[in-house]
Amino acid sequence: MDKFIVHQSKLSGSIEVSGSKNAALPIMAATILTDGDCIIHNIPDLMDIRTMMGILEVLGKKITFKKSTLVIKAKRNKSFVAPYNLVRTMRASFCCLGPLLAKRKKAKVALPGGCIIGPRPVDLHMKGLGELGTDIVIENGYCRAKTKGLKGAHIYLGSAFGSSVLATANILMAAVLARGETIIEYAACEPEIECLALFLKEMGADIVGEGTPMLRIRGREQIGGCEFKIIPDRIEAGTFIAVSLATKSTIQIRGANPYHLTSALEVAKKVGAKVIIDRNLAITIKPERRLSPVNITTLAYPGFPTDLQAQFMACLCLAKGISLVTEKIYPERFMHIAELNRMGASIQRNGPYAIIEGKEKLHGAEIMASDLRASAALVIAGLAAEGKTEILRVYHIDRGYDKIEYKLKKLGAKIERRKQ
Ligand code: UD1
Repeated sequence: MDKFIVHQSKLSGSIEVSGSKNAALPIMAATILTDGDCIIHNIPDLMDIRTMMGILEVLGKKITFKKSTLVIKAKRNKSFVAPYNLVRTMRASFCCLGPLLAKRKKAKVALPGGCIIGPRPVDLHMKGLGELGTDIVIENGYCRAKTKGLKGAHIYLGSAFGSSVLATANILMAAVLARGETIIEYAACEPEIECLALFLKEMGADIVGEGTPMLRIRGREQIGGCEFKIIPDRIEAGTFIAVSLATKSTIQIRGANPYHLTSALEVAKKVGAKVIIDRNLAITIKPERRLSPVNITTLAYPGFPTDLQAQFMACLCLAKGISLVTEKIYPERFMHIAELNRMGASIQRNGPYAIIEGKEKLHGAEIMASDLRASAALVIAGLAAEGKTEILRVYHIDRGYDKIEYKLKKLGAKIERRKQ
């Protein structure tokens, strides 16, 4: 296991954003829908991508991954079982379920299990696939499903927490090969779902309404392979915005789509940074004074993403005044609070609310990464804190950030990876 040693750093310069992990993973799963060849560019080199490659290989794909391009071809093996040893590390593997059912009429996918950020139910996935004409049960830690042939349906996919990204992905992918028309209401509007729909359309699917809460899909008998480029990672870009704010460093972020980052850029402006977007869509963040406090509520897109909550909370620990963070997607997603408090932050949690009393300084400490985005928050706090911070268990960060320490070092960050 690796750890990071981080020292307070003043950063400057320009940083390039990689392709989106959360767009790439369901798109990789979508290749199950065809026996044609798929060439997918701008894939980040991450543990989660390697895990999905492993799952697809078990499911009968032959894959090469070179210079951020994946080539996925069909082999003869037509397995329908996604085993627990691969699925357990990554929830996104659950979105093999829809494509397996659509293409192979049966699927056995291990349940991803509990997660440090709180309960992660799969009822919406089961409801939607059930309504498309699937017999679906949970047995011995596996979701088993079979169908005599999927049939289009009118499906409502809302939950108490709003829309679901991966349930939308699963139902959308299944509907592409279902007989007749499917309408998904309360579909997730995240750019990653829009990207998936565009990929499916490149494969020949008939979809209308991507990027909106209502998707209309007319099923096709089959779809083919295609060549496609993944969108930039808005969560990685948002993390760099938070790095800039916390370290009071002017940073240019290249290759991101600022239109996917409106809510995060709005917060950056509210806390007092200058945001400049140039003609090539490079984003420059210039924090010019001590950060002002701000209230953030996480919501489904285009609201503020839960996947940036921890990173922005690390910034607010240094704001001049009291901020309130309300977590509406995962009310338990606050594992980073205890670690930030060990660094001198003053954060009190009450249910889904975190009240952050900004301090002038944070100080280095030995801390533990608990999950992917919390790890990024601790790196941010470490770069802003006086003295040395040791972050244990950084394998979480390798699941979701492509070459994070190299990218940060290029900006002048003092960060080293060591064996724990
Ligand atoms: C995806 C992202 C994850 C992000 C999350 C919310 C990927 C690979 N992961 O996860 O990084 O944090 O969206 O933006 O894209 N829910 C139910 N029943 C279900 C499914 C979800 O009640 O069947 C609830 C969840 O508990 C949560 C909310 O819906 O409160 C949103 O979760 P969801 O959008 O499904 O998250 P994921 O798609 O798993």
